[in-house]
Amino acid sequence: MNQELHKQQRLYHELSWIWPLFGTVEDYREESEIFVRYLRDNIEGSLSTLLDLGCGGGKNAFHFRRHCALTGVDISPAMLAQAQELNPPSRFVEGDMRSVDLREEFDAVFLNDSSMYMTTRDELMQLFRTAYRHLRPGGAALVTAEVTSESFVHNGCEVSNYSDDRGREVCIIEQDYRKSPDAEQFDLTFVFLIREHGRQRIENDVHTCGLFPLDFWREAPQTLGFSVREMLLETEGVVMPILVYCKPPL
Ligand SMILES: C[S@@+](CC[C@H](N)C(=O)[O-])C[C@H]1O[C@@H](n2cnc3c(N)ncnc32)[C@H](O)[C@@H]1O
Repeated sequence: MNQELHKQQRLYHELSWIWPLFGTVEDYREESEIFVRYLRDNIEGSLSTLLDLGCGGGKNAFHFRRHCALTGVDISPAMLAQAQELNPPSRFVEGDMRSVDLREEFDAVFLNDSSMYMTTRDELMQLFRTAYRHLRPGGAALVTAEVTSESFVHNGCEVSNYSDDRGREVCIIEQDYRKSPDAEQFDLTFVFLIREHGRQRIENDVHTCGLFPLDFWREAPQTLGFSVREMLLETEGVVMPILVYCKPPL
C-alpha cells in the first residue's frame, strides 16, 4: 500500500465523521477487557505501557488507558484527532505502522482491525518488524486476524444503520470481493447512504486489503524471534483468531 492508496480510504479522511457512529465506545468495552487479560496472561512482568498501531478513533484506547499508559499511532490525521479528543491524557502520533519508529519499547503492542491494510506478505512482515522493534524483552503483541484466506467470504456483505443527534443517518453497506480465488488481496467496498436532515447523498469507498493463510500469520513472525500463541475470540457467533506474539525475555 502506498501513500496514495491510503488516502483513498475516504472513511478515515473526508468521511471520518462517520467513524464515531460506526460502533460506539461502549461497544468496544467487553473486547478491550478481554484483550487486556490476554496480554497480561502472555507478557512477562507487568502491563504498564501499550502501543496501539492503527488506533483509529481511539475507542480501544479509551478502555485500555484505565489499565496502562497508552500511545496510539495512525496514518490518518483525522482519525488521530478523534482519538485525542476521546482520550486527552494519551499520546497519539502520526505514523505508518509498516515503518514507524518511536525509539521506545512498550510492554505490549496492540493491533485491532487494521492489519488487513497490509496488502502483501512483505508489508505484513514490515508490520511484525515494527511490533518487534517496539516491544521490550518479555513483552507481547496482540493482533486480531479479522480476515484470513480460510475465513474469507467472497461477496460477503453486511448492512448496518446508524444515526446521530445532529440529524444525520447513515446506512453502511460493506462488501468483500476477491478478484480471483487465489488472490492475496481483496476489495473492501463501502457504500454510505447518507441522509442529512432528510437530504440524501450516496458515497462509496474502496479499500484494498491483504488476504493471507493463517499459517503465514503463525509462522512468518517466528523468523524474527517471536514465539506465537493463538486464541479464539467468539463475538456475535463469529470466531476470530487472535495471535499473540511474544518477544523472548533477556
Ligand atoms: C478499521 S480502522 C480500526 C481502528 C481501530 N484499531 C479500531 O479497532 O477501532 C483502521 C485504521 O487503520 C489505519 N491505518 C490503515 N493503514 C495504516 C498504516 N499503514 N499505518 C497506520 N495506520 C493505518 C486507518 O487510518 C484506520 O484508522
